[in-house]
Amino acid sequence: MQGQNISQYVEDPDKMTLYVHIPFCVSKCAYCDFCSFVPSHGDIAKYLQALYHEIDVRALEYSHQQITSIYIGGGTPSTLHNNAIYELLQHIRSRFAVLYNGSVTIEANPNSLTRAKAKEYFDAGIRRISIGLQSHSNRLLHLLNRPHSYRDFVHAVQYADEAGFVDISADVLLGIPTQTMQDLRGTLDRLLDMPLTHISAYGLILEEGTPITNAINSGKLIPCSESLANKMYDYTVDRLHKSGFYRYEISNFCRSGYPSVHNLNYWNRGQYLGVGLGSHSFVNGVHWSNTLDFAKYIKNPQDCRENVEVETIETAKLETIMLALRTEAGLDIKKYDSTFGTSFLNEYRDTIKFLLNNNLITINNFRLTVNDFNISNAIIEHFVR
Ligand SMILES: C[S@@+](CC[C@H](N)C(=O)[O-])C[C@H]1O[C@@H](n2cnc3c(N)ncnc32)[C@H](O)[C@@H]1O
Ligand code: SF4
Repeated sequence: MQGQNISQYVEDPDKMTLYVHIPFCVSKCAYCDFCSFVPSHGDIAKYLQALYHEIDVRALEYSHQQITSIYIGGGTPSTLHNNAIYELLQHIRSRFAVLYNGSVTIEANPNSLTRAKAKEYFDAGIRRISIGLQSHSNRLLHLLNRPHSYRDFVHAVQYADEAGFVDISADVLLGIPTQTMQDLRGTLDRLLDMPLTHISAYGLILEEGTPITNAINSGKLIPCSESLANKMYDYTVDRLHKSGFYRYEISNFCRSGYPSVHNLNYWNRGQYLGVGLGSHSFVNGVHWSNTLDFAKYIKNPQDCRENVEVETIETAKLETIMLALRTEAGLDIKKYDSTFGTSFLNEYRDTIKFLLNNNLITINNFRLTVNDFNISNAIIEHFVR
């Protein structure tokens, strides 16, 4: 696909980020439908061999693009054995043109991030670590079938801090069934006492077929109401803001100077290459995802692309709007106009008039922002129609 459909609609066609997917977890959480599973004997070795092979092939295919940041996500990358991540990063750097000092992030679970692994990651050049907590309440962690306690999280942050990490992020969930405002307050109180630079607060999505959704559908569990979930979100925004965490995207908050550079690239519609099972890519004007079939991937990792879609000017425009309206910075109207050779305000005149009249958006200094992130999906829908 190299060289074919060079996108006219991205800012830096010579640059891309790299996402590396590690699909293994020690157990499956009750709400999760990510591409992750508990490995059987031999799966990890087979997977790493296939992943290395895919990296080699893609590095040749995209030899003209520089990697500006790397994100090792999952699944749970910290479930891999000692040294696996160090070697993986050495391999990536030996194959791709990786920007010196580009940001490198790893996701970790509280129970698998040991002191030794935290040190290994730092020695490998990783400078950002994202640890999934979800809640400080062990009752809720149990309900979510998380494989760790709050205490494990405290230790994980301590190990990361001791290893030298400055940029430490935690994930929390809002709207867990039976979660109360008091639970949430307790979680944020504790997080704000820790050396964190970043917090991601996701509204729980009830994914079809997961144990938690099944329990709700069969009446065994009562879901969190929309109004309580909205209240939790507003409280989180306010509380974090008062404690020096700036919201830069619907679900992401950081101390000044510590946004996720890697994720900002997605929201700015920069190019990204994904390697590994189920990863997504957008390079040279083409979107695709890798197969979710483990057997297929390890058999033929270089030929595992599915859902290949060449972008059109229409899809590029809509994606630009949808992604930008998730961010606090919003849509840069002048940039949109120069990228697409058009006038955004003319193109969406009626939609914009309606949204402005109903006080749902603001246009200030040629930037369009949504007024209430609780209903941002509904606002975005107006542009898609
Ligand atoms: C893929 S996980 C990576 C980190 C690690 N595996 C963990 O769970 O701690 C990234 C984050 O996605 C979020 N997540 C997963 N499933 C979700 C769902 N159904 N709704 C909302 N957030 C979800 C969780 O907050 C999790 O921390
Ligand atoms: S640890 Fe993370 S990726 Fe694994 S099942 Fe739980 S939420 Fe999903």
